[in-house]
Amino acid sequence: MDIASRPAEPAENTQIADAAPPPAAPPVIRREDYLPPAWLIPEIALDFALGLDETVVVSKLSVRRNPDGNGTATLRLNGDQIAPRAVTVDGTALNDWKLDGPDLLIELAGDAHEVAIETVLNPAANSQLMGLYASNGMLCTQCEAEGFRRITFFPDRPDVLSTYSVRMSGDKATFPILLANGNCTAEGEGEDGTHWAEWHDPWPKPSYLFALVAGELVANHATFTTMSGRRVDLNVWVRPGDEGRTQHAMDSLIASMKWDEETFGREYDLDLFNIVAVSDFNMGAMENKGLNVFNTRYVLADPDTATDADYDAVEGVIGHEYFHNWSGNRVTCRDWFQLSLKEGFTVLRDQLFSADMGSEPVKRIEDVRVLRIAQFPEDSGPLAHPIRPDSYQEISNFYTATVYNKGAEVIRMMRTMAGEEAFRKGTDLYFERHDGTAATCEDFVKAIEDGTGLDLARFRLWYSQAGTPQVSARLEHDGRIARLALTQTVPATPGQPEKAPMPIPLRIALFDRDTGTHAGEHLVILDGDEGSFAFEGFDKPPVLSINRGFSAPVAIEMEREDEDLVFLAANDDDPFARYEAMQSLVLQHLVAAVGGGLDEARRASGRAAIGRAMKAIVTDPELDDLMRGELMILPAESYLAEQLLVSDPGVIHAEREALKAWLGLELADELKALHDRISAVPYSRDAAARGARKLKTQALVLIASGDAGEGAARAIAQYRKADNMTDRQGAVMVLAGLDCPEREEALADFLARYEGNALVIDKWFSLQAGSFHPRVLEQIHALAQHDEFRMSNPNRVRSLYMAAAVNPQAFHDASGAGYAMIGELIRKLDPINPQTAARFVPALGRWRRVEPGRAAMMRAELEKIAAVPSLSRDVREQVTKSLG
Ligand code: PHE
Ligand code: ZN
Repeated sequence: MDIASRPAEPAENTQIADAAPPPAAPPVIRREDYLPPAWLIPEIALDFALGLDETVVVSKLSVRRNPDGNGTATLRLNGDQIAPRAVTVDGTALNDWKLDGPDLLIELAGDAHEVAIETVLNPAANSQLMGLYASNGMLCTQCEAEGFRRITFFPDRPDVLSTYSVRMSGDKATFPILLANGNCTAEGEGEDGTHWAEWHDPWPKPSYLFALVAGELVANHATFTTMSGRRVDLNVWVRPGDEGRTQHAMDSLIASMKWDEETFGREYDLDLFNIVAVSDFNMGAMENKGLNVFNTRYVLADPDTATDADYDAVEGVIGHEYFHNWSGNRVTCRDWFQLSLKEGFTVLRDQLFSADMGSEPVKRIEDVRVLRIAQFPEDSGPLAHPIRPDSYQEISNFYTATVYNKGAEVIRMMRTMAGEEAFRKGTDLYFERHDGTAATCEDFVKAIEDGTGLDLARFRLWYSQAGTPQVSARLEHDGRIARLALTQTVPATPGQPEKAPMPIPLRIALFDRDTGTHAGEHLVILDGDEGSFAFEGFDKPPVLSINRGFSAPVAIEMEREDEDLVFLAANDDDPFARYEAMQSLVLQHLVAAVGGGLDEARRASGRAAIGRAMKAIVTDPELDDLMRGELMILPAESYLAEQLLVSDPGVIHAEREALKAWLGLELADELKALHDRISAVPYSRDAAARGARKLKTQALVLIASGDAGEGAARAIAQYRKADNMTDRQGAVMVLAGLDCPEREEALADFLARYEGNALVIDKWFSLQAGSFHPRVLEQIHALAQHDEFRMSNPNRVRSLYMAAAVNPQAFHDASGAGYAMIGELIRKLDPINPQTAARFVPALGRWRRVEPGRAAMMRAELEKIAAVPSLSRDVREQVTKSLG
C-alpha cells in the first residue's frame, strides 16, 4: 500500500469496520490435507521471447484429467505476481477465466484439453530472485520451491511431472548463450540480430526443476564416460574473465559422477551436464535437471582467492547438486513436507563423498560441529520442527538445518544399524521402486526396511518428532561386570508437548585404564525410556567412550572426571571420540565457569587439565595437522549456550575469551614453535600442506589471545608473506580483531588487491563484521555505508549481516544495538528479498534462552517487525512463531 491509498487517521469513534484490517495471517498448509492433483500435465511447451526488462512467455499445456483425482472440472493453475495476457483452450480464445487470489481458474468440459497462456515478465525488476530474474546482465531462473508460478500459470506442485520442450529467442549480442534443461535439439538465427534455440528434456520432471539461462558466458568443457560407456559433455559456465577459476569445480563434478557410480550404482542419464555460476542467488545452488545453477561462491576457486575451506565447500556442493540427479530428480518429492526425502538423503550422500575425497574423521567432526551450531539451537527454539514437518505457511522457511542436516543424521543411523552393504541394498530398492515418481519419506523408510531387513517401526518417530533427545548415561562397575545405564527424554517442542522414546543407536567402547585399549566396539540400541547393558570381563572400572563417530544426533549427559576425559582425548582410537572428549572437557569447565560455580581452586585445576590435554595435542608427533586442528578448536559460544536453559551471552563470551587468553600464555612457547614449523611448509593442495595452513591460523588466534603484540607481529608477517588465500584470510581475521596499526594496513591492502572480485570483497566485509574488535558495531555501521555494500545482492548482505548476527560480541552487545541493527535490516530487506530477510529472524527468536535484560530488547525488535503491515509471508511466519 502506498501513502496515497492509506486511510486517514481514524477519528475518535471510528467503528472497527472502518479501521484498517490487521495484517492477515498467512494460511497454514497441512501435510494431512494432501490430495492428489485433479489434473495432470504430461507435456508442456514453453516459448520465451527474452529481454532483460521484458520477457514474453507462451506456455502450452497438455491437460489430462487425473483418474486418481477428485473429478473437478476446474483447472487451478498457480500464479504469483503475474497476470494472464491471453488464454486459449483447444485453440479458442477464452474470456471467462477467473482469478482466485494469485491463481488462475479455468473450467474444462472434457478429460483432455490443450491450454495456452501468455504472460509478460520484467526480470530486471525481480529483486526476490525467484522465477525469472536478471543477474549481472544475464537472465536465469530459480523455481524451487514455488518460483515457476512467477513465470507462468501452472499446477506448481512437485507431484505433477511433465516433459518439457523449451524454445527461446533473444538478442544475440546480449544473450549469446541460450541454455535450458536436457539437450539442445535445434538452433538458428532470427531477424535483427536475434537468435533462438530449442531444448528438450526427455525425463518428466516437476516444475521446480525447470531452468533457463541466457547471457554472455564462457565454458570450461570436459567429457565423462559413464560406467556403461556413454559419453557425457560437461560444461562449467561462468562470466568471461572467471574461466581461470573453474577447474576445481570441473574436477569435483567428474569425481562426483564417478563416485556415485561406484558407491550407489547411479549413472548419469543425459548426454549433457551444464553448471552455470550466477552472482545473485538466494541459496547455495540448485539441482535443475541437466542445468545446475550455482551461487558463484560454490564454483569459483583458485589459490589466490579461495581458502582451503572454500575449496572443500565447492567440492561438497558440486557433489550435492550432482547427487540430486537421482535423489531428488529421478525420484522426487510428493509434496514439500517430504523435502527431507531428497535433502536429508542428498546431504548424507555429499558427506560420504567428501569423506572419501579427503579425511573421513575430519569431515565427520566438521559435520557434527555444523549440526551442533546450526541445528541443535533450531531444535530447542520456537522454530523447532520435525525433519518431516506437519505444517507450514511459507515453504522457503523449511530449508533448514533440521530438514537437511538432521535429516542426513537420521538416514545415517539407519546405515549404521544396517551396515554399509545392507544399506546399499535398501537404497537400490528405493531407486528401483520409485524411479520416475514423486515419493514420500515413508516410501524411503519402507524401502530401507525391505532392503535391509531392519524393523524400523519405532524408528519412524525420528521423522515425526522434533527436539534433540537427551540421553543420560551412567557406568557402574560390580565384580567383573561393567553396567551401562541409559535413559532418554525427548524435550517438548512447539505443538508437541509429549514425546515417545525413539530408538537411539550408540556405538560404545570400554577402555582399560592401564593399557589404553579396548576389546572391541559395541552397538547398543536404546529403544525405550531406559535401558541397561552389561559387559563382562572388567577387573577395574573401565573408561566409557560413548556415541563414537556421533552415531546418533543426541546430547549425552554424563558426570565425568576431568581425568577420564584427558585419558580419552589422548587415547581413544575413534578420532571423533577423541575430539568429543576434548570438547566435553572444555565444555564442562566453561559451563561451570559461566554458571558462577567455580572457585579459584577449581578454576585453576580445570584450566590445568585443559592445558595439559591441549599441550599433548599441540605436541603429539603422531597426529596429522588436519586432525590436530580439529582437536584444538574450542566449543562454539552458541553450543555453550545450548547447555544452559537461560544464559548471559556476555558472560559466555568473556569466559571463553579468558580461557583462550590463558591457553595462549600458558602454551606460548609450544604455539610459537608450532607456528614457526608450519609457516615453513610450502603451498600445495595436498593434505599435509592443508593441515599446516589450517593450524597456522589457529595457532595465531591463540597466540594473539595471549599476547596481542606478538599476535599482531606474526599476523602481519603471515599476511605479507602469504601466497594463498588461506594464509592471507587467516592473518586478516586475527588482525581485524586487534586494535593496532597493522590492522589498517592489512585491511586496506586486501581491499585494493581484490578490487572487482565480488567473492573476495565479501570476505573483506565478513572478516570485519565477525571480529571481536572492541568497536565492531561501529565498524559494521560504517561498512553498511561503504560504496561496495549492496542490499540487492544476497552474498553481500550475508557477508556483512550474517557475520554480524552470529558474532556474539556484535549481536549481543549489552546496549541492544546489535539487535536493533538486525531488526532494521530485516525491515529494510523484506520488501526487496523476503527469503533472505527471513533467514535473519531466528537469531532474534532465541530470546527466551537469553538473560531477561537482553531478552526484552530482542523481543521488542521482533514486535517492531511484526508491526509492519506489509510484511512478507516469509518474515511474518518466522516472527509470529518466534513471539508465540
Ligand atoms: N535444492 C537446493 C539444494 O539443496 C537448495 C535450494 C532451495 C536452492 C531453494 C534454491 C532454492 O541443493
Ligand atoms: Zn539439496
